[in-house]
Amino acid sequence: MNNRGKARAYGNIALIKYWGKRDEKLILPMNSSLSLTIECFYTETEVIFSDSFNEDYFYLNGKLQDKLSTRKISDFIDLFRKAANINMKATVKSTNFVPTAAGLASSASGFAALAAACNVASGLNLDHRELSMYARQGSGSATRSIYGGFVEWKRGTNEKDSYAIPIDDAKWDIGMVIVIINSKEKKISSREGMRHTVLTSPFYKAWVESCERDIEEAKLAIKNRDFESLGLITERNGLMMHATMLGASPPFCYWEPDSVLAMKLVRELRKEGITCYFTMDAGPNVKILCRLSESDKIKNRLKEFFREEKIIITGPGPGIVLL
Ligand code: ADP
Ligand code: DP6
Repeated sequence: MNNRGKARAYGNIALIKYWGKRDEKLILPMNSSLSLTIECFYTETEVIFSDSFNEDYFYLNGKLQDKLSTRKISDFIDLFRKAANINMKATVKSTNFVPTAAGLASSASGFAALAAACNVASGLNLDHRELSMYARQGSGSATRSIYGGFVEWKRGTNEKDSYAIPIDDAKWDIGMVIVIINSKEKKISSREGMRHTVLTSPFYKAWVESCERDIEEAKLAIKNRDFESLGLITERNGLMMHATMLGASPPFCYWEPDSVLAMKLVRELRKEGITCYFTMDAGPNVKILCRLSESDKIKNRLKEFFREEKIIITGPGPGIVLL
């Protein structure tokens, strides 16, 4: 056992979304999802186990976190402590190179980095598949951040077969342009938002059924390098996820007026011959799936309406990196 481990994990943006759990504790999703890992946003986390700590400490971006945030981290580390038979408390130091809780996938990079660091510190040495199952229990989307490129998180039938698998390294002129509309912490977390949707939205059943079809079509499009089909499926899947929230009771919506503006611009760009497609998560920011070679053109167009520093170009990101 090393007692200490440090890792970096990159964020991922779902093209086929995960929105709803069938088991809240084990974090088992209602449907399989598919994402692209991105290199622009990541988290670096160090975990140290020591007999000298009386309790767990969680520092995020240099700041000691309150009891509630630390509890979430302690519960997660307990999975490793239990499996590795460790009784020591831990200090966790994490830095997000991404705005936290703004719909820019901080929970994905955050829990994937924490899982990878715990894996080293505890000496468990889990393989990537097992590690993705551990990461899943911190935050569903973190399951996918263990790998780079295009990744599928299989719904599975139980807690042992719901994990991520890499499906393509995405090294074929793929990128994203991210428009930061608002990087403040959202009012409704993804966790609360999806729970409320599952419980109250009459559209939810149709959403799960559509995902089954969408993910098969998306995988085929990736296999065939059919960017246009992949983009169209991505756009409709994202919009349908947001439709489930509009159908919830009471309804809620993560969009802001500028989100709609960015989405309209994407459709205009398409009419002008630039193949690009939008998707949005649990926040107002808009992610544009595009050809990396066309990302500068897209950025130039967006600059007519959005400040330059709010437009981020990214290529596909790698899987977890041990530091
Ligand atoms: P996002 O859209 O950024 O993923 P979520 O609401 O899904 O937002 O998740 C935010 C939560 O993720 C935070 O409240 C925190 O519990 C967790 N999180 C964010 N960053 C980290 C980190 N570096 N380490 C551990 N957990 C993190
Ligand atoms: C809209 O993975 O953050 O980004 O499992 O409750 O931690 P928890 O939720 P989280 O939700 C992500 C929702 C999403 C879609 C996606 O990433 O697939």
